[in-house]
Amino acid sequence: MPKPVWKGNAVTSEKDEFYRDILEGMAIYTGSAFQRDVLAAISRHDEPGIGVALNKNQIASKMWLADALLAVVGPDPGRVLILGGWMGVLGAVLLHDPRFMIDQVVSIDIDPRCATIAEAMNATHVREGRFAARTADMLEMDYGGKPATASGTDTFDLVINTSCEHLVEFDRWWQRIPDGQLLVLQSNDYYAVAEHVNCVPNLDAFRSQAPMREVLFAGERKMRRYVRFMLIGRK
Ligand SMILES: C[S@@+](CC[C@H](N)C(=O)[O-])C[C@H]1O[C@@H](n2cnc3c(N)ncnc32)[C@H](O)[C@@H]1O
Repeated sequence: MPKPVWKGNAVTSEKDEFYRDILEGMAIYTGSAFQRDVLAAISRHDEPGIGVALNKNQIASKMWLADALLAVVGPDPGRVLILGGWMGVLGAVLLHDPRFMIDQVVSIDIDPRCATIAEAMNATHVREGRFAARTADMLEMDYGGKPATASGTDTFDLVINTSCEHLVEFDRWWQRIPDGQLLVLQSNDYYAVAEHVNCVPNLDAFRSQAPMREVLFAGERKMRRYVRFMLIGRK
């Protein structure tokens, strides 16, 4: 049983301290702002979801997205809206990627716990005015016109939704997206997870669910327990 230790206002275990020391050391060695932000986020927020959002499958999926986006859209996708952005890891992966010149990322999630954690995860970019997180339901947002609109005045060149498998009313969301909108979508066939209410069995089924006028990329990636699918294109 690990011994509890007081750290600031929180009780942590010796094991927590063990891993934190290693992460701190590695952050100093690499000089990585991303690692520094992750450390600050896990120090301030005792949220197990952070560990899931940063696991190797999640990071691999985000890096796959970044590589494909760069290949088919280029280094300057403009202003980016991420739907179901969770802990803000995708925003951090894109904004820390030196291959991109992204103006700004806004990450929205229906879960009110996510916004402060996502902003801690992106503290470097919050300070620069390049990242913001909001609590909102993507099914209720107004995307009207071209490009997408998040709040009536905000416009976005690219809308990313890597949480398609979580959307019970996917068709209702899809109908809200204006024709011509540039999109990146991910889904998967991981039916075993209770929150995955909209999995697809294969890439063709995903393409039928989200029919695009112009498909720039369609691919799949085998993970250990499931297959992840990705589409990039214009609705
Ligand atoms: C587990 S996470 C992300 C999984 C995804 N594969 C990824 O890494 O991007 C799914 C997120 O979608 C959010 N979500 C589900 N329905 C939503 C909705 N209607 N509007 C906004 N966020 C939603 C959840 O709160 C959750 O944070």
